[in-house]
Amino acid sequence: MTKMLHLILLVALCALSAQALNNGLARTPPMGWMTWERFRCNINCAQDPDNCISENLMKVMADHLVSDGYKDVGYEYVNVDDCWPAKERDAQGRLQGDPERFPSGIKALADYIHSKGLRFGIYEDYGTKTCGGYPGSLGHLQTDAQTFADWGVDMLKLDGCYSNVTMMKKGYPQMSNYLNATGRPILFSCSWPDYERGAKIPINYTMVAEYCNIWRNYIDIQDSWDYVLKIIDYYAENQDVLSNVSAPGSFNDPDMLILGDFALSLYQAKAQFAMWAVMAAPLLMSNDLRTIDPRYRDILQNKQVIKVNQDPLGIMGKRILQLANGIEIWLRPLVSQSYAMVILSRNDRQPIRFNTSLQAMGLYRSDGYDLTELWEGTPLGRFKPYDLLPLSVNPNSAEIIRLTP
Ligand SMILES: *[C@@H]1O[C@H](CO)[C@@H](O)[C@H](O)[C@H]1NC(C)=O
Ligand SMILES: *[C@@H]1O[C@H](CO)[C@@H](O)[C@H](O)[C@H]1NC(C)=O
Ligand SMILES: *[C@@H]1O[C@H](CO)[C@@H](O)[C@H](O)[C@H]1NC(C)=O
Ligand SMILES: *[C@@H]1O[C@H](CO)[C@@H](O)[C@H](O)[C@H]1NC(C)=O
Ligand SMILES: *[C@@H]1O[C@H](CO)[C@@H](O)[C@H](O)[C@H]1NC(C)=O
Repeated sequence: MTKMLHLILLVALCALSAQALNNGLARTPPMGWMTWERFRCNINCAQDPDNCISENLMKVMADHLVSDGYKDVGYEYVNVDDCWPAKERDAQGRLQGDPERFPSGIKALADYIHSKGLRFGIYEDYGTKTCGGYPGSLGHLQTDAQTFADWGVDMLKLDGCYSNVTMMKKGYPQMSNYLNATGRPILFSCSWPDYERGAKIPINYTMVAEYCNIWRNYIDIQDSWDYVLKIIDYYAENQDVLSNVSAPGSFNDPDMLILGDFALSLYQAKAQFAMWAVMAAPLLMSNDLRTIDPRYRDILQNKQVIKVNQDPLGIMGKRILQLANGIEIWLRPLVSQSYAMVILSRNDRQPIRFNTSLQAMGLYRSDGYDLTELWEGTPLGRFKPYDLLPLSVNPNSAEIIRLTP
């Protein structure tokens, strides 16, 4: 990319960030842990006390974030998803935690998480009920915003089950304004565009970015490599629209990281992590930090890959090449005219040596770039536009490389 193009990109970016939700949060993609993908709506504390949605589960995960090094590399949000509330609101119409599973109350849980230097995220729904059938926020938006602020909530994910999707263009901005009016900065995670996509209602991402810090665009991830690939494809197919709205304060959310769960091999886990880094996605793990294999932990804590994800420009990378043998090349512009390149292999046969050069990716800088492989931090040397890159990528995996001018 030429200097001029880079400049245009920066100018466009500044114009965009002026429209991002102005609460000072998510200047880089938020990092943390959340319950949903791994623990779902397990409320069976009688028979499964260690894995049910409860204050104990949240506290244990917060402890592990601190003791096992995650907090040190940037993971800070501890988020409970659906199935935390009691089935009924209290006498004043306020939400309350399930009394058996959250006996100390939600505020005490938030206090505990804050005492560890972490932040607390919660879940609600812009409908009559949450997806799991708990009380929804419709008709209570202002009360719920205030309750969350009173409890010390730092992030709200607002889902969209049991709602009228045509009302979301009004309702989500309303909730965003109610959160703002509490005076407590609360990162706002919106499921709004995903529901509009599902209902085939045109999505106005300029508007979404004005009222939300992060937003879900596409289906829920499941514990499956196929889902990781499906999600990547959606972002590739819509990359011109989506990369346009990715900026400090506002990020597309391809859903949780499933590294360390049951489905992904170590190589596939690298692919998910590299892709989420290059897409400027929130890094919200949903896994069991008590039992995770340390090899997956090491991937999740790779500082150089996290640095790509957290790059201050906040630009979402794009798929710029699809080569033979299921190889895709993604490129993300970073600060100081650097780039991150991800080589994703969907090949399921063998390691692929691939034979391409920087100019094939549109990188014509005559002095070339220093390349560093980021999994091991290995310097690969300096490459000019027409030099062939001596790279190989394993099946169902990804290489991630930093290019420095
Ligand atoms: C509320 O919005 C105003 C105007 O965008 C902004 O300056 C302020 O920081 C916001 N406050 C919170 C708590 O989000
Ligand atoms: C959904 O809301 C729209 C107004 O935004 C209204 O016209 C429509 O009747 C509502 N649909 C249902 C099923 O309530
Ligand atoms: C999208 O939202 C923006 C900001 O709210 C608004 O200015 C613009 O007119 C909307 N675009 C369409 C096509 O409705
Ligand atoms: C990107 O954003 C700009 C400025 O808002 C807009 O004019 C352009 O149409 C957008 N491009 C796409 C592909 O959405
Ligand atoms: C790589 O490409 C060059 C130039 O196109 C060609 O000469 C060479 O045979 C290729 N090597 C492999 C291993 O495909």
